[in-house]
Amino acid sequence: MFILLRCPICHEPLFARGSCVACANNHQFDRARQGYLNLLPSNKKRSKQPGDDQTMVAARTRFLNHGYYQGVVEALLEVLRSFEGNQYTLDAGCGEGYYTSAIEAQLDGSVVCGVDISKQAVVAASRRSKDITWLVASVSELPLMAQQFDTIVSIFSRCCWPEFARVLKPGGHIATLTPTERHLMALRQVIYEQVRPYPQDKHLQNLPANLQLVHSSTLSQVMRLGNNQAIMDLLAMTPHYWHINNQQKQQLSKLERLTCALDMRVSVIRKEGEV
Ligand SMILES: C[S@@+](CC[C@H](N)C(=O)[O-])C[C@H]1O[C@@H](n2cnc3c(N)ncnc32)[C@H](O)[C@@H]1O
Ligand SMILES: [Zn+2]
Repeated sequence: MFILLRCPICHEPLFARGSCVACANNHQFDRARQGYLNLLPSNKKRSKQPGDDQTMVAARTRFLNHGYYQGVVEALLEVLRSFEGNQYTLDAGCGEGYYTSAIEAQLDGSVVCGVDISKQAVVAASRRSKDITWLVASVSELPLMAQQFDTIVSIFSRCCWPEFARVLKPGGHIATLTPTERHLMALRQVIYEQVRPYPQDKHLQNLPANLQLVHSSTLSQVMRLGNNQAIMDLLAMTPHYWHINNQQKQQLSKLERLTCALDMRVSVIRKEGEV
């Protein structure tokens, strides 16, 4: 019951060799002491430290550990349980592994792999579980052999449909969670004078012919934050973190309470073929 890895350089299978993994062409990758593998070659990085930085990762961990998104995890697990055969699961853009570790712990018999481009996120994820294959890699070029996953989840992360289709088994499913226009409206109203709508369901526009949207629903919950740390952590989990100016940040740093709508689209996409 192993996740089958692919060499990021020559695309040959990777096999365990001592504490490393290596391919037939002798490309070798060390396992970090935390247990994850870094399979993102430096010539494929667009920046020195791609993905979420340490501040964002720490904020996400603090926030999620408080259980504010517990209802989201439960809704996600319910969707995953509805799939026939969901043993091998990939969390693409897994961040610091909150959902990945919940899937591994709560979905019976699951074998789980979490991939994120941020090394800091994967280091944090490795602390959540030793029973998950954690990889630093990009969803745009997954270091994974083809047709091995029953399920892929993508939670507030980038989707690369050709890669998802490649690593999914025929008949496998992809579950995505994306924000709707109303998601975190109260937070956005504090930050912006004029709240611009999120482009909704944009990620579903370029589905390849072998992937089909089979289900779409909205998950709506109310979240009550009762201290400023939680509000600032929530900010650091969102793209607004990059857009907010100092004045807006100061305004937010005085806020002690925020009641906020969680409003997410749950989309299920199926790869053609029989399970
Ligand atoms: C909004 S966070 C969501 C993280 C996690 N799914 C969660 O909901 O807690 C988006 C994540 O995508 C990662 N990311 C960005 N570009 C990526 C890429 N090309 N491949 C893999 N991960 C990527 C970031 O490092 C970040 O951890
Ligand atoms: Zn190789």
